[in-house]
Amino acid sequence: MHAQAVSQVMRSRRSVRAFRPGQVPRELVEEILGDAACAPSGANIQPWGVHVLAGAAKDELGEALVAAFRADAGLPPAHFPQPLPEVFQARLMDFGARYYGAAGIDRTDAAARARQTERNFSFFGAPVGLIFSIDRRLKPHSWIDLGLFAQNVMIAAKARGLDTCPQVAFAPFHELIAAHLQMPPEQLTAFGMSMGYGDTDAPVNQARMPRERVQDFADLIGF
Ligand SMILES: Cc1cc2nc3c(=O)[nH]c(=O)nc-3n(C[C@H](O)[C@H](O)[C@H](O)COP(=O)(O)O)c2cc1C
Repeated sequence: MHAQAVSQVMRSRRSVRAFRPGQVPRELVEEILGDAACAPSGANIQPWGVHVLAGAAKDELGEALVAAFRADAGLPPAHFPQPLPEVFQARLMDFGARYYGAAGIDRTDAAARARQTERNFSFFGAPVGLIFSIDRRLKPHSWIDLGLFAQNVMIAAKARGLDTCPQVAFAPFHELIAAHLQMPPEQLTAFGMSMGYGDTDAPVNQARMPRERVQDFADLIGF
């Protein structure tokens, strides 16, 4: 059917961390979210919530987050268990080498790394910032639904020439975000995302993240 087109979009999506200034029309965002909402969810409960911010609304949240990040500087990121199993630690190190290498940052330069991490909170200069949230009363399997929804957002965006970066960096600041966006108390920020037209010339966007080969992560049985 459209396998080639879909495959091309999936294979060309990358996490983009520098954007051109061009604005994204509201109608385009609505189209993308409409596509994304076709994601499956357990018992079709559709547990996703998303705030989509542009202009002053995005900038104001970004400024509050940058201030909070600076105040918290030095705290270790809590996204992964310590110690991380060896296989994942090796991939994480490879990621760091590629990411900081592309950004021209010496890995031993903690201050430069912190400045780059801080860029998460201004949505890497993207014109649109998204905050994905979920009802905190749900169990982990419903978080899968939120992830599927977010992947659909990224693919629907890429199909329209828009780039994205999913960002768990927002999660530790969920209380600030909830207060800023006046979320109902049950709603918990899971991650954020930058969206816009990627700056293809930016050094940081030259990073390429490899994938394991299919035969190394999949067991095909009975074929
Ligand atoms: C759930 C999730 C959280 C992520 N959080 C961040 C983040 O906080 N900051 C960031 O720059 N990239 C983040 N990324 C992007 C990953 O680093 C990226 O997806 C990975 O290195 C593979 O690269 P690719 O997306 O270009 O294929 C995140 C990705 C996912 C799926």
